[in-house]
Amino acid sequence: KMPNHAIIKEVGPRDGLQNEASILATEHKVEWINHLSETGLSYIEISSFVHPKWIPQLADALEVARNIQRHSQVTYAALVPNKIGLKRALEANLDEISVFMSASETHNKKNINKTIAETLPVLESIVREAKQHGLSVRGYLSTVFGCPYEGEVAIDQVITLSQSLFNMGIDELSLGDTIGVANPKQVANILIRLREAFPHKNIALHFHDTRGTALANCLTALQLGFNTFDSSLGGLGGCPYAKGASGNLATDDLLYMLEGMGIATGINRKKLLQAAQYIQGVLPQPLPSHHMQIFAKG
Ligand code: HMG
Ligand code: MG
Repeated sequence: KMPNHAIIKEVGPRDGLQNEASILATEHKVEWINHLSETGLSYIEISSFVHPKWIPQLADALEVARNIQRHSQVTYAALVPNKIGLKRALEANLDEISVFMSASETHNKKNINKTIAETLPVLESIVREAKQHGLSVRGYLSTVFGCPYEGEVAIDQVITLSQSLFNMGIDELSLGDTIGVANPKQVANILIRLREAFPHKNIALHFHDTRGTALANCLTALQLGFNTFDSSLGGLGGCPYAKGASGNLATDDLLYMLEGMGIATGINRKKLLQAAQYIQGVLPQPLPSHHMQIFAKG
């Protein structure tokens, strides 16, 4: 049965900006997040406490966290890769942190410089410590629908690693189509298996729209009863390795589809488009979402 409400988790300030070639000024990030907080969104991933040499775009994570205006109905979250990242994140007074790993060995190694076996105990101790500090924890599993180095990823591997993450005590699992290769049939195959394995767990979908399949994948997930989606306003992010390719599914395009289908989100579309116009105004290039393209044409 189709859900009658959906939760959109805005990841633009993190996943969008980490993939932008230009580095935004901290004050622009802060003002953008303040705009986003006014839209009715219940969740904003504001930055990332990874190594600033790896992601210089988000080196100011702590400053961003300290300067935004917090709304009590919004969960403010950020990525944390290791103990050093957690120490930095705890200073930021967030509501939630996200740990992350890949379902494929090569991507995991290239992304966080550890094998999967080396990663699991690190994540476990981060989850434990974050929980001791009263934070909720999200767990990302990347490359679920395909790896840029290894191609197809076995569903059994996805189930096994999801189980490991749930065993650590994560509150929600987000399944990443990191490079935007998923298709609806594949999404259905994986989600049916995951629902069987974890009938009562919170599972979100994190689709990238690199090949234009993200909304179709969301529809498939909705039809299977899943209602939580990560997206980036305006489709911010692109991909530094594929010129012109879009990044995360665009929040504005997703909201349009959900609203039209009568699925409630609590988000005010007019305010969301205002937030999109704000970030467009400080970016050197046009945002790729369908709605921002329509807007740009007047
Ligand atoms: P490493 O080099 O293996 O780290 O990097 P290390 O533990 O060996 O430490 C080396 C040095 O880095 C040390 O400094 C540490 O202090 C420092 P030194 O003693 O040499 O002066 N260091 C740090 N400094 C600041 N913050 C930290 C930190 N950690 C160590 N957190 C590490 C390992 C994980 C840090 C690195 O590989 C890294 O930062 N990777 C980040 C990769 C990343 O951000 N990828 C993108 C996010 S994942 C994603 O986008 C997918 C997602 O969207 C879902 C999807 O689409 O599928 C979530
Ligand atoms: Mg992503």
